[in-house]
Amino acid sequence: MFYSEELVEEVRSRSDIVDVISSYVRLQKKGGTYFGLCPFHNEKTPSFSVTPGKQMYYCFGCGAGGNVITFLMEYENYTFQEALETLADRVGVELPKEGESAEARKQADLRARILEVNKEAGRYFYYQMKKPGGKRAYEYLTDRGLSDETIRRFGLGYSNPYRDDLYRYLKSKGYEDGLLKESGLVKVEERGAHDRFWNRAMFPIMDVNGKIIGFGGRVMGEGEPKYLNSPETRVFDKSRNLYGLNYARAARKPYLLLCEGYMDVISMHQAGFTNAVASLGTALTPGHANLLHRYTEQVVLTYDSDKAGVKAALRAIPILKEAGISAKVLSLKPYKDPDEFIKARGAEAFEERISQAENSFLFETDVLYAGYDMGDPEQKTAFHNALAQKLLQFTERLERENYMEAAARQYFIEYDSLKSLVNAMGGRRGFVAVKGTVGKHKEEKKEKPDGIRQSQKLILTWLVEDNRVYAAVKGILSPEDFTEDLYRRVAGMVYKGLEEGSLSPAGILNHFINDEDEYKEVASLFNTSLSKLTKEEREKAFSETVKRVKKHSLEEKIRNVTDISVLQALIKEQTNINELHISLN
Ligand code: UTP
Ligand code: MN
Repeated sequence: MFYSEELVEEVRSRSDIVDVISSYVRLQKKGGTYFGLCPFHNEKTPSFSVTPGKQMYYCFGCGAGGNVITFLMEYENYTFQEALETLADRVGVELPKEGESAEARKQADLRARILEVNKEAGRYFYYQMKKPGGKRAYEYLTDRGLSDETIRRFGLGYSNPYRDDLYRYLKSKGYEDGLLKESGLVKVEERGAHDRFWNRAMFPIMDVNGKIIGFGGRVMGEGEPKYLNSPETRVFDKSRNLYGLNYARAARKPYLLLCEGYMDVISMHQAGFTNAVASLGTALTPGHANLLHRYTEQVVLTYDSDKAGVKAALRAIPILKEAGISAKVLSLKPYKDPDEFIKARGAEAFEERISQAENSFLFETDVLYAGYDMGDPEQKTAFHNALAQKLLQFTERLERENYMEAAARQYFIEYDSLKSLVNAMGGRRGFVAVKGTVGKHKEEKKEKPDGIRQSQKLILTWLVEDNRVYAAVKGILSPEDFTEDLYRRVAGMVYKGLEEGSLSPAGILNHFINDEDEYKEVASLFNTSLSKLTKEEREKAFSETVKRVKKHSLEEKIRNVTDISVLQALIKEQTNINELHISLN
C-alpha cells in the first residue's frame, strides 16, 4: 500500500509526539523540552529529549532520533505502514484501504499516478514500434546492433510523428490534463495539447525498482537536440537516478561501470557487462555517488575518451571519493565511447580494458603531466613540484609511499628524489591534506571537505534553532549555496518553511524516511545542542561560518563556469565577501 506524502504528513502533524511518547516513557518537562530515560539504550540519568516545538525526539546519549512515526517503528519494531496505521487510528484519519476502487486510490496519490502514466506511455511507445509505422525506429535500433531481446529488456520504443497521438491515447485511458502535464509527457497550452516527444526512438528511464520515471528520445539520424529528455517531475530527479541501475544492482560484480549515455549502458549490458550504469549526460552529483555507494565501493569510469569525458572524470573522482568509493578510469582509445568500442572490438577486448583501468590518482596526474613541456627543465621541475604537492593528499604514510613509488615509476623519477621533495614540501606545511586540483599550478590552501560540511550543517541547525538567523542569512545565502547535496535539499525545505512561517522540522524529516543514512543525518542536524557561547563568540562564529559557506559555494561555481562575464561577476562577488556585515542583531 502506497500512501501519499500529503497523507503521511497529515497523520504525523495531527499526532502530538509528547502525547505518544508519554505512553511509553516517563517524561519530565524542563523549559521547553521534555526529558526521560532513553528507551533505546541503557542509562541511569535522562538524556532522551522530546521537543514539542520541533515534534521530534533525540537522545544525546545514543544518537537515536526522529519523529513520531520513527519512534513507533523503533520502539514497537513496526514497519512504516504499521506505525502510520497505528497513528492514523489514534488521531482518526482514515487511510485508503487496499480494496478500494482503483479510482479512489488514483486520487490519493500524484506520484503513483505519474508512474502509472509513464508505464502506460512506455507500453504505448513499445507497441508503436511494433506497428508498420514504427519500422524506421526498429531499424534504427537494430542497425545500431541491438537485438530484439535487448530492445525488450530496455523497453525501447517509438514516438510517432503526430503532434498529439500520445495525448489522445492517454486521454482515452481516462487520465486528465493536469496529470498529463505533471508527467512531462504532454504540454497543455491554450491552443491545445501536444506531445513532448515525436518521431524519436524512445528510451524509458527506470529507477532502481524498475519503475519508469522518465524518457529520453533520440532523433533517428542527425538533428537537434540529439536526445530530448523528460523534464524533472515529481518522480524524476536527474541528480539522484542512474540509468541501468535496476539491472546493474543485481549483477553481482564487485564494481560498477559508470558511463555517460543510454546507448553505452545498453551496449555494455548486451555484451554481458550488466553492471553498467549512466548518469545520462548530467555531471555526476553527490546524490549519484551516494546511490552508487549503496551497491558498491568500486567504480570503473568508462566516460567518453574526448576532452569533455576527461573533464567529467576529473570532476567525478573526488565526488566518488567523498562518498567512500574508489575509482578507476578505463581508456577507450581510439574509440569514442563504450558503445563504439564494443561494436568495433567486442566484449573480450573490453574486459581486457577493464582489467587495465588506471588508478584514479595516476589518471589525474597523467592529465597534469600533459600540461607541461618535459623538454624544458623549468617546466619539468614545475611538474615535479605539482606532483609532490598532490602526493601530500595522502596523509597515511604507507599509502603515500605506495603512491610515490607508483608515480616515480610512471614518470621516470628517482624514487628517493621524489620522496625528499614530497617530505620537504610536507615539512613546510606540516603534512596537511590538500584537495588535489589538477591543472592548477598555483599552490592554494583548500578548505578541508569536512570543515565545509560542518559549516553548512551548523547554519541549518542555527536556522531551525534561532528565528533571528533567517533574516540575517537570507540575503547572503540561498539554498543553492549549500554545496552538499543533502544539505541543499534540507535548506530548500527549511527556507521555504521559514519564508511561509510554517517551518516543521519533523515534517521535513519525513522526506528522508526512505534513506536511513540521510534520515539519521537530518535528525541529528535538527537536534544538535549548540555549545554555550558568549554573545560575542557566537556573533563571530556566525559571521565566519556564513562567509565560509558563501566562499565555498562561489569557488565551486567558479570551477564550473564557462562564460567569462559570469566568471568575472563571481570573482567580484568573492572579493566582496569580506566586506559583508553579517550579524544576528
Ligand atoms: P553523447 O553525445 O555522448 O551521446 O551524450 P551518445 O550516448 O554517444 O549517443 P549516441 O551513441 O550518439 O546515440 C551522452 C549522453 O548525454 C545525454 C544522453 O543521455 C546521452 O546518452 N544527452 C546527449 C542528452 O540528454 N541530450 C543530448 O542532446 C545529447
Ligand atoms: Mn555513442
